[in-house]
Amino acid sequence: MSASLANVAYIGATILFILSLGGLANPETARRGNLYGIVGMTIAVLATVLGPRVTAGGIPWIVGALAVGAGIGLYAARKVQMTQMPELVALMHSLVGLAACLVGFASYVDTSIEFTGAEKTIHEIEIYIGIFIGAVTFSGSVIAFGKLAGRISGKPVLLPARHWLNLAALLVVVWLGYAFIQAPGIGAGMTPLLIMTVIALAFGVHLVVAIGGADMPVVVSMLNSYSGWAAAATGFMLANDLLIVTGALVGSSGAILSYVMCRAMNRNFISVIAGGFGTGEGAAAQAGGAQPAGEVVAVSAAETAELLREAKAVVIVPGYGMAVAQAQHTVYEITKFLREKGVNVRFGIHPVAGRMPGHMNVLLAEAKVPYDIVLEMDEINDDFPDTDVAMVIGANDIVNPAAEDDPSSPIAGMPVLQVWKAKTSIVMKRSMASGYAGVDNPLFYKDNNRMLFGDAKKMLDEVLVALKG
Ligand code: TAP
Repeated sequence: MSASLANVAYIGATILFILSLGGLANPETARRGNLYGIVGMTIAVLATVLGPRVTAGGIPWIVGALAVGAGIGLYAARKVQMTQMPELVALMHSLVGLAACLVGFASYVDTSIEFTGAEKTIHEIEIYIGIFIGAVTFSGSVIAFGKLAGRISGKPVLLPARHWLNLAALLVVVWLGYAFIQAPGIGAGMTPLLIMTVIALAFGVHLVVAIGGADMPVVVSMLNSYSGWAAAATGFMLANDLLIVTGALVGSSGAILSYVMCRAMNRNFISVIAGGFGTGEGAAAQAGGAQPAGEVVAVSAAETAELLREAKAVVIVPGYGMAVAQAQHTVYEITKFLREKGVNVRFGIHPVAGRMPGHMNVLLAEAKVPYDIVLEMDEINDDFPDTDVAMVIGANDIVNPAAEDDPSSPIAGMPVLQVWKAKTSIVMKRSMASGYAGVDNPLFYKDNNRMLFGDAKKMLDEVLVALKG
């Protein structure tokens, strides 16, 4: 394939990537968006492999690597549970970071292209920054994976004077960068480069261990953004325009997503990055202290069905537990049944419900819930006072009134779905355990709240039987 044809293919792929991102912004067009992305990536890979910069001898290597990568990808995609998606995403970000590091070192030791003067300096700056971002992304993503998979504690690890440590590390990295560029040859430059890589790896670990459970979604999308910039840096090193554009698209969309999530949690982006927030991973709520007083009122599936049957307006608030129980199909069966009986059933979706952006929307779309009854938090929050039953399915933090009433709560200021304003709220979960942020939930003790204890799928099946009976 000639260079100009490869360039045309790259432009086509870029347009498809932009259309793909546009499509993914809305559940109704997400499928089409995915398709654009797949076609764009296929064109990009073909144009690169068949392009002028790959020699015939290199093709078997690339095909071999593609087969291994595709095999692992297929296996992971088939095996991974929906609830494990965020950790898979974190693991994949780590690979982008690792690739940026390896390409950086390979470009540095590659002597086939001779750079001189300003070109040499620019090339070395690209390598240095690429390896730095890559190493931070790699180690940070591995830690994020460990935290999300429960292999590392979700509690923030806060070293004394950690901000000063970070600042000192950055200053040393800048100084090493100067030494690297001034180095007379590859041998001399390798030492500062390697030391910087070790510091960057430690920096990535330190940055993410300091961030607690409840802020992990922001961290994952931030690492997503870093992986985009790492890919863009790789594009500069390889003089590949498509990689630069694609990396910039991923980098900027990840940054925008982080910002949107921070706003949804009423958190300041800088304070999230600085760490220290969010303490647990769903441990039982601790006794004492600001423990909400009172008793909880448990109801049966039959009583829940009765409350639903008598209601005119119902809002369903799904959370992480619905994903764990895979209850979305039964949820829709109940919704269909109630709507046929004339009950106005709608869904209220919190921006960080579940464990990844859009988690609930994906599950509800899978169960074929119509999009027009799935509303965002801001669209539905004012309607709770006119709602007869707010049914909370496996959600906890996103319906915690302490976020509004208790300034000392770790989630104070996070906007939540105000289910307690409905005539009756029913919380469906297995126990009194806390949610992801590890904080107790005063909603459970409110007079108008009922608890339906048990696995969400099992309880909803019983509710459906009772409704139909
Ligand atoms: P959580 O606050 O984590 O609460 C989920 C609740 O579901 C738990 O309290 C659990 O209680 C219950 N549950 C678990 N398995 C269940 C099952 N099989 N049947 C019924 N209930 C079950 O979830 P949420 O309200 O969706 O809030 C999301 C939280 O995750 C926020 O703190 C958010 O910051 C964080 N987070 C979000 C994301 C994104 S991007 N969405 C990513 C990472 C973290 P029991 O154990 O008593 O059943």
